[in-house]
Amino acid sequence: MTQPAVPAPPDVAVVGAGAVGATIAYTALVRGSARRVALHDIDRGKLEAEVLDISHGLSFTPMGSIEGSDDVEVCRGARVVVVTAGAKQKPGQTRMDLAASTVALTRSIMPRLLEVAPDAVYVMVTNPVDVVTTAALRLTGLPPQQLFGSGTVLDSSRLRHAIATRVGVAVQNVHAYVVGEHGDTEFPLWSSASLGGVPIRDWSRMHGGALDEQARAQIADEVVNAAYRIIAGKGATNYAVALACCQIVESVLRDERRVLPVSTMLEGEYGVDGVCLSVPTVVGAGGAIERLSVPMSDAEQEQLRRSASSIRATAEQVGV
Ligand code: 2OP
Repeated sequence: MTQPAVPAPPDVAVVGAGAVGATIAYTALVRGSARRVALHDIDRGKLEAEVLDISHGLSFTPMGSIEGSDDVEVCRGARVVVVTAGAKQKPGQTRMDLAASTVALTRSIMPRLLEVAPDAVYVMVTNPVDVVTTAALRLTGLPPQQLFGSGTVLDSSRLRHAIATRVGVAVQNVHAYVVGEHGDTEFPLWSSASLGGVPIRDWSRMHGGALDEQARAQIADEVVNAAYRIIAGKGATNYAVALACCQIVESVLRDERRVLPVSTMLEGEYGVDGVCLSVPTVVGAGGAIERLSVPMSDAEQEQLRRSASSIRATAEQVGV
């Protein structure tokens, strides 16, 4: 008789089986981002239900497995740990409103995770992600490449989608990043945005002002407020954030070295120091390997510093 497979450490361990965590686990298996997925949550009933539901679809996905437990041991030896545990943003709340409770939770979870997965690359997702990532780095003392936040990878996808649909070009041919806080002070880097290699301002001139200043302001507003709109309608965002996280996980597990705007601890770049926020960064097996020096206009640099001040103010308020 064939013996059951010997359990091997997970490729990715997802902490938190809420809407975001469960969808990340599901998406990782559907996309084949990881072969072995672990899901951990202290709510055993919810966790078991999510794991059962996902595992019943495994005959339709690339080869993969999922194991769930309310014991953190299930994360032992994981190559990547994705942390989604924390309070849910309610309609009307900002991400920053969650800071005190999620920082406290991060402080209690991280030491236990580090015991079982000391060498993992950590991707923080819980909001406010920049504050949580700053807190987790200070607490763990991990090298900044090894622990970073999902940042504005999702927001950049929202931006690319908004531009693509407005001008009728495939989203894959739109290159544009949202930088700064994953939250109200984030902003698009219009000065380096391009469509099929054509700078966005030139594109706009060639197409009757399709992406003029007013259109760009509307798009930026749509992107910043996207999560509020979704939370008002269905109580949470889960699909796009899960896809964004899976792209980060794949870039680490396969050493893809994608340039992704993840949230890392800046060390004086753009005049920002000692706080985590998102700028385009090379992500590979070593984690957040290299922050790029993206050209920014003076106004964009000023906006980035304002975004950093907002993150720093909340971090200080909650004792980070
Ligand atoms: C999002 O942007 C709420 O941070 C979450 O979808």
